[in-house]
Amino acid sequence: MPPIIRIADASQHVGEIVTVRGWLKRRTGKGKINFLRLRDGSGSFQAVAFLPTLGDELFDQVKSLTTESSLLLTGEIRADERAPGVPGGYEMDLRHIEIVQIAEEYPITPKEHGIEFLLDRRHLWLRSDQQWAITRVRAVVVRAIRDWLDDQGFLNVDTPILTPAAGEGTTTLFKIDYHGVPAYLAQTGQLYNEANIFAFGKVYCFGPTFRAEKSKTRRHLQEFWMVEPEIAFCKLEDLLEIEEQFVSYIVQTALTKCKAELALLERDTTLLQNVLPPFPRISYDRAVEMVNAAAAQGETVPPNDEPLPPIPWGGDFGAPQETFLASQFDRPLFVTHYPTAVKAFYMEPEPGRPEVCRSADLLAPEGYGEIIGGSERMSDPEQLLAAIRKHNLPAGAYDWYVELRQFGSVPHSGFGLGVERTVAWITGISHLREAIPYPRVLGRLTP
Ligand code: 4AD
Ligand code: MG
Repeated sequence: MPPIIRIADASQHVGEIVTVRGWLKRRTGKGKINFLRLRDGSGSFQAVAFLPTLGDELFDQVKSLTTESSLLLTGEIRADERAPGVPGGYEMDLRHIEIVQIAEEYPITPKEHGIEFLLDRRHLWLRSDQQWAITRVRAVVVRAIRDWLDDQGFLNVDTPILTPAAGEGTTTLFKIDYHGVPAYLAQTGQLYNEANIFAFGKVYCFGPTFRAEKSKTRRHLQEFWMVEPEIAFCKLEDLLEIEEQFVSYIVQTALTKCKAELALLERDTTLLQNVLPPFPRISYDRAVEMVNAAAAQGETVPPNDEPLPPIPWGGDFGAPQETFLASQFDRPLFVTHYPTAVKAFYMEPEPGRPEVCRSADLLAPEGYGEIIGGSERMSDPEQLLAAIRKHNLPAGAYDWYVELRQFGSVPHSGFGLGVERTVAWITGISHLREAIPYPRVLGRLTP
């Protein structure tokens, strides 16, 4: 029996007879020759079926194959730099075929399908080249996130998903019934991270988070994955240095490890190669000036070349303003010191200027918007209680959180990086819904 190999390992078996197991992407050819494009999860390549080699019976079986039929193909691996596939450069000279199942007519065809049609068939759509590539980049990004944090001495401490109180404002809460008591799906693990740093110094949580976003945008999901590092004895300035190292590592790792995937997606990686520290830093004040000056000049922004809207001081940036600001620099941009009023209750005010807080958002280039939100946290218990009251939050639910500030309070900071926004940016896709295997967008819960 020939050895069973993965297509990704074909290069190690040139000249050998091997078996690969997978699914037929498509069959082409006519007369005495058929080309079977097979994918096996690790990659794809072409097997060449030649009537004189196979004989009539096997060749008839080849001709019966439909898209997505499951198969075992046995043959000799040949190197040919023009051979199509991922990674490409290898093909199989087919000697034997074993059919597992002849697939019924497959609904996803090479023609253009509408997005709702594809999302309804997400369980099948994941098999297509682009979705395969994006999902693999996502896995590399997740691994890079963990590797970097683990190597830098952060401890992964898990935080709950069923929570009694809001972490990021009350307007996007998913409310559930916890045995007769109201509870919420976690919007963030941050508040628990803040408890955990007092036990472990540097921590991170990493998991799904939930936001009942009431509008449909290409940057918002109802369920998304976020990694949240939190660090004791850390000021805002220290935090930004950690963030730029972290994001650079993730991007450079994806560029190194996902060459085939990014090539398949036809991603122009020029700007991604720039993603190295230091990243530029501007204040919110400066950002508002830049936006308003450009808006007055009639600046327009992609994707629709609409006019850049001006913004009064105190407003939060929308997608057009973030896109414009990021486009003024050649790598991700930190915008710091946002107005306290547009940010969450827990952010430390700037000394002597309490109308702004010690916060920073990291804006990705090319219109991908905010990929990180972070800040220094309020460390004084009285000030924190006042902020909780000012935001009309139920003080009792935050007793434990305030209490953290009574036993060895220290300056501390942390941030959250959105996995789907990071993956969308690296892969160059226009909408977050393809950056997660089973997207939860407004109005969709299936499959
Ligand atoms: O800025 P956000 O809301 O910050 C927090 O949740 C903090 N508690 C993080 C922290 O300091 N520990 O969200 C952080 C990031 C955003 O920058 C964005 O990348 C992503 O999470 N994000 C979303 N991604 C997809 N869909 C949504 N609805 C998102 N909301 C936020
Ligand atoms: Mg934010």
